Amino acid sequence: MGSKQQNIVILTGAGISAESGIQTFRASDGLWHNHSIEEVATPEGFAANPSLVHRFYNERRKQLHDTDVHPNAAHHALAKLEREYDGKVVVVTQNVDNLHERAGSRNLIHMHGQLDKARCNNTLRSYQWLNDLDESSVCECCSKAGNLRPHIVWFGEMPFLMDQIQQMLEDCDLFISIGTSGQVYPAAGFSKHAQICGARTVELNLDDSETSATFDQSIKGLASSIVPEFVEQLLAVK
Ligand code: APR
Repeated sequence: MGSKQQNIVILTGAGISAESGIQTFRASDGLWHNHSIEEVATPEGFAANPSLVHRFYNERRKQLHDTDVHPNAAHHALAKLEREYDGKVVVVTQNVDNLHERAGSRNLIHMHGQLDKARCNNTLRSYQWLNDLDESSVCECCSKAGNLRPHIVWFGEMPFLMDQIQQMLEDCDLFISIGTSGQVYPAAGFSKHAQICGARTVELNLDDSETSATFDQSIKGLASSIVPEFVEQLLAVK
């Protein structure tokens, strides 16, 4: 398992939030099963039909206030790792929910954006946004309706903080991927990049992903059980 001062980068995807009651994207009953990606998750879709796109993300945002939706044992385990591990731990999430931060993770990058924020298309300023968003919503920066969009990275857009992530992948000793199908780039390429730069790579996922075979180690199971177990192993190393 190595020494206790390793530099760890953890990539998470929808699978880590599945047991908290948030749908994944590509399961047979997943989010993309009922929706057209082009209509609700591209800049072109937003330009063509903003109210449809707002409705789609308003529904998702409402889930963040759902009293049944809580961080699960996997989110809590990663927050504990950040608190108690001697080395550096950063979580890079593709998820737009707020479950990592609710569990206590602080060294966290939301590379695909955040449901609980809106962004002005004009000034690019982002705002905490917990209510419904629509075409009449007014941003503080322009005091004008119609400029705000969900703070979400859509298909065809560049994920956030890629330079910083790239550097972290090059510097890490251990790369861990949790609950992601490995179908969406650039995140799907992170493990290979980290591995080429010398990191050990471990995948924790329910099923085989597109990239399972390329990891040094692949552990199958529910995130709520395999993530806490793996974290305890890391913390047990002296
Ligand atoms: N525990 C562990 N893994 C799980 C669990 C669970 N309880 N439930 C599902 N999984 C796994 C699935 O086996 C699958 O491999 O999580 C993965 C989820 O895959 P996707 O639905 O494709 O989600 P993700 O990989 O996060 O999608 C990447 O694509 O749609 C875009 O921008 C969106 O961020 C998203 C990106």
